[in-house]
Amino acid sequence: LNREAIKRIAREFVEDKAKEGVIYVEVRYSPHLLANSGVKEIPWNQEEGDLSPDEVVRLVNEGLSEGEREFKIKARSILCCMRHMPSWSKDVVELCKKYKDEGVVAIDLAGDESLNCEANPEHMEAYEEAVRCGIHRTVHAGEVGPASVVKEAVEVLKAERVGHGYRTLEDDDLYKKLLAQNMHFETCPISSKLTGACNADFTTHPVITFMKDKANYSLNTDDPLIFNSNLHHDYQTAHQHMGFTEEEFKRLNICSAQSSFLPAKEKEELLKTLNEAYEMIQSTAF
Ligand SMILES: *[C@@H]1O[C@H](CO)[C@@H](O)[C@H](O)[C@H]1NC(C)=O
Repeated sequence: LNREAIKRIAREFVEDKAKEGVIYVEVRYSPHLLANSGVKEIPWNQEEGDLSPDEVVRLVNEGLSEGEREFKIKARSILCCMRHMPSWSKDVVELCKKYKDEGVVAIDLAGDESLNCEANPEHMEAYEEAVRCGIHRTVHAGEVGPASVVKEAVEVLKAERVGHGYRTLEDDDLYKKLLAQNMHFETCPISSKLTGACNADFTTHPVITFMKDKANYSLNTDDPLIFNSNLHHDYQTAHQHMGFTEEEFKRLNICSAQSSFLPAKEKEELLKTLNEAYEMIQSTAF
């Protein structure tokens, strides 16, 4: 039953994205948090069962592929290490390597940002292995934690994208440096309000600074089921309360595609599709 549920959630996730008008999505999760076997410290106080993180990844891959075929969009996944569970990280990078050509495109590190990596070398080792094996890297940083967590993500873990990254703005030197190197920030406006990561007043949201500085960033939902939200809500909020224009939406969607973790050829195809669609919108506006 659990197995069917995992696959179904993955397939229906793709359905939801297709309905939102998304043509390519990267979804992230912790395989260990869905497993009850072969895991050091089984999560959620479960009894030992027979569902391993490896099988979780296979089930999610199957569900995503079914969704892709059925709803005609592309879906890839990112596997999360958890900051409070360094003992899982080696496993996570091994799963990224094993399923690299079957839908998994990158590694992530999520969870409590007060747990830095220097104290947890297993995260660093997992990211070193990711670099060595050409696995793409993103890290949740500067959502709740200070700018120093962002610095560590980029400099120590060699993150290619920063998850959220709002508090980067508190370190001007770091922010300027990341702007100069076109670092991509994965922002989630609705989430940041509901989690309290940012001020509830959207008119002073850090995303506005990213917009004004023409930074490299995307708009994302984070956890749509938990927040009872959807991508449209994030874009609408940016439009209504943050002064975002249609031009900026196009620009940031292109940035998102450029910063996606697809192989070069597939990325080119995605960009071509977007550019064609946007030129079409432009020409019908005349
Ligand atoms: C955003 O980053 C991607 C690579 O991660 C790069 O290809 C693209 O040019 C960047 N865009 C901007 C506007 O900096």
